[in-house]
Amino acid sequence: MTRAAPAPSLDDRDGVIWCDGAFVPWREARLHVLSHGLHYGGSVFEGERVYGGRVFKLHEHTARLAASARTMGFELPWSVPELAAATAEAVAVAGLTDGYVRPVAWRGSDTLRLVAPDNRVHVAIAAWPWPRIFTEGPRGIRLHTSRWRRPAPDTAPISAKTAALYAIGALAGQEAEAAGHDDALLLDHRGRLAEATGANLFLVIAGELHTPPAECVLDGITRRTVIDIARDRGLPVVERHLAPAELARAGEVFLTGTAYEVQPVTAVDSLRFPLGPVGAALAAAYGRIVRGEEGCPAPPGRPARAVSERG
Ligand SMILES: Cc1ncc(COP(=O)(O)O)c(C=O)c1O
Repeated sequence: MTRAAPAPSLDDRDGVIWCDGAFVPWREARLHVLSHGLHYGGSVFEGERVYGGRVFKLHEHTARLAASARTMGFELPWSVPELAAATAEAVAVAGLTDGYVRPVAWRGSDTLRLVAPDNRVHVAIAAWPWPRIFTEGPRGIRLHTSRWRRPAPDTAPISAKTAALYAIGALAGQEAEAAGHDDALLLDHRGRLAEATGANLFLVIAGELHTPPAECVLDGITRRTVIDIARDRGLPVVERHLAPAELARAGEVFLTGTAYEVQPVTAVDSLRFPLGPVGAALAAAYGRIVRGEEGCPAPPGRPARAVSERG
């Protein structure tokens, strides 16, 4: 399986992008070259997916954007409800039925100081059609265990979806692709299984789901959704540290992420895994839930959301 062929340059499109409160022509949505976000990683973002004209888990994504900014030491100049409304408007203006949304917030160019609490914070939201991250075909992707690792939570702000952390995934991903794999599997700083470059990892072992705790990995919104779906269906979910050797015990392996959805893994280095029924059932349920055909199960202790309240 290969990644989808690259589309024409993303900065050369018709349409508009929401920038700091107003829609600007797509090609004019630019930032200054001396922006803090470009030089020092003072930037946070989200990846959201539109199904049937609505962003799945819009509130959760927007709240995570604000939380990521706070972790990086800045406040967004717009509230979560205001940004969620702007996102919905960006989707509507783009006439999107199915696609992708990229909200991004960054410290601007008022000074080039590393410590720049007074630099203005900018926010942009772009929405456009974007097909699956991996092309259709024989389903299941091959991972390559990377030499790059997810840092310890006291080394980097793991819970934040910040550009500052994505250099690691970019290095790991480009090496994996250059070696003919679809994606990289990163270990954590202690050598335990962590996650792929943009998705969380699940192993099916003896009828249970096992996944690393959200300690050295991003606490994915899809991860949480899939855990809720599994528990709702009586499938035990164990969040624990996993040694790489445990991959050999897994009957199935899959990844979860907004862009990946529930993505089966058929190989990690020389180990092979079948396309199994557990991943297939969870992928099917996830597909129904994101399209609003089925209600989203709530985590224990919270009443289930009605179908009409999805997202
Ligand atoms: C490093 C990383 N892990 C996991 C995920 C999955 O997170 P989510 O399910 O919220 O998209 C992503 C994608 O955002 C990611 O970039």
